[in-house]
Amino acid sequence: MKKFVQRALKMLPKLDESQIRQLINDLATENERLEVVLDSLNHGLLVCDDAHVVFFYNKCIDRLIPLSGGDLYEKTAWEAVADEEIASFLQRTLENQESVSDEEFTLEQGGMTRILWISVMPLVRAGSIQGNIVHVEDVTEQRNREARLRRAESLASLTTLAAGVAHEIKNPLGSIGIHLQLVDKTLSKSSQVSSDDVRSYLDVINEEVDRLNRIVVDFLFAVRPIDVSLEERELNPIIKDLAEFTQYEIEEAGIELVLELEESLPALQLDERYFKQALLNIVKNAIPAMPDGGQLIIRTLRRGDEVEVQVKDTGVGMDEETMQKVFEPYFTTKESGSGIGLTLVYKIIKEHLGEVSVSSREGVGTTFTITLPVPQRETRLLSYEGDAT
Ligand SMILES: Nc1ncnc2c1ncn2[C@@H]1O[C@H](COP(=O)(O)OP(=O)(O)OP(=O)(O)O)[C@@H](O)[C@H]1O
Ligand SMILES: [Mg+2]
Repeated sequence: MKKFVQRALKMLPKLDESQIRQLINDLATENERLEVVLDSLNHGLLVCDDAHVVFFYNKCIDRLIPLSGGDLYEKTAWEAVADEEIASFLQRTLENQESVSDEEFTLEQGGMTRILWISVMPLVRAGSIQGNIVHVEDVTEQRNREARLRRAESLASLTTLAAGVAHEIKNPLGSIGIHLQLVDKTLSKSSQVSSDDVRSYLDVINEEVDRLNRIVVDFLFAVRPIDVSLEERELNPIIKDLAEFTQYEIEEAGIELVLELEESLPALQLDERYFKQALLNIVKNAIPAMPDGGQLIIRTLRRGDEVEVQVKDTGVGMDEETMQKVFEPYFTTKESGSGIGLTLVYKIIKEHLGEVSVSSREGVGTTFTITLPVPQRETRLLSYEGDAT
């Protein structure tokens, strides 16, 4: 391209007006073609000059991050961006002339959480830095895929879990064995049996049996396949029911419960009892996450062929590592927690052919999102209705 322009410039004095017109047309077409390529990328690009003023951005960046209105070509890169956190990151990075790769940002947009990677690199031309390129990539799907894989693996690791349980069982069993022998010895040795001795041995045996029982119950809870029976049900009434059921406990904890339910949602295939149990487990986690009160929002909305339920709290949130592990069996950060609550949620939602995910920020809050498919018949019905109007 550069050579072509240089050659054209050399020839310019010899060209007549129509040839020059043609030349400019060719250049414009070439330019347009490049722009189309850049606009078709599903990566966001924003380029600024050495004064950090925007001189190019592609369509995708507009989709990925909120841009401020007006003429962006008169603004610095950070003024062009409407998100405060990203703007201050850009200002800091560009003013300090740093290169940054894959800085992660979480963005809430229209009820959806997006994970973005933003990189800033120098724009080098003829050996000198003439500005910067800001590159934005949406890694949400990739992240979700990874998390799903990890969860599948974690459930597959139930066999390892079984080995763990076998190990747990060994100690109380051993102790029971020893104490039974002691009882036996006491009974056979002396003619004068002290009932106090025997009782103390029996107490120990009793405690160990309790311990065994707890281990087994927890384990069964984690591994038992659940037997859902799906029926056509309205979602919102189930949520209203649950809200009523938990209202007292929520209010006692100084939490405001807000329901934002989209009207006229299609009926879904639900097992009411299990689905309520799943929501209850999520709500039950949200309450202690807000020890000083806060807000709990339960939202329902339609998104294409799916219906979404979001349970959002303004609680303590969790760090990245906790977030990755919450659905794993036995994962808990609570002293008296069993770490089974969310494992069960995961299993129940899977049985509903849905997905459940979590997004959280420390000190800000946590959102659990359940996605459920709209039954095919419903989808068709709605599209017929759509056609008719
Ligand atoms: N809304 C939330 N806010 C902050 N952390 C949460 C939230 N929900 C879950 N967690 C974290 O996830 C962990 C696992 O939750 P899960 O419900 O599976 O187990 P648990 O609540 O610890 O015990 P239990 O089996 O009694 O429910 C919790 O210990 C907590 O650290
Ligand atoms: Mg729980």
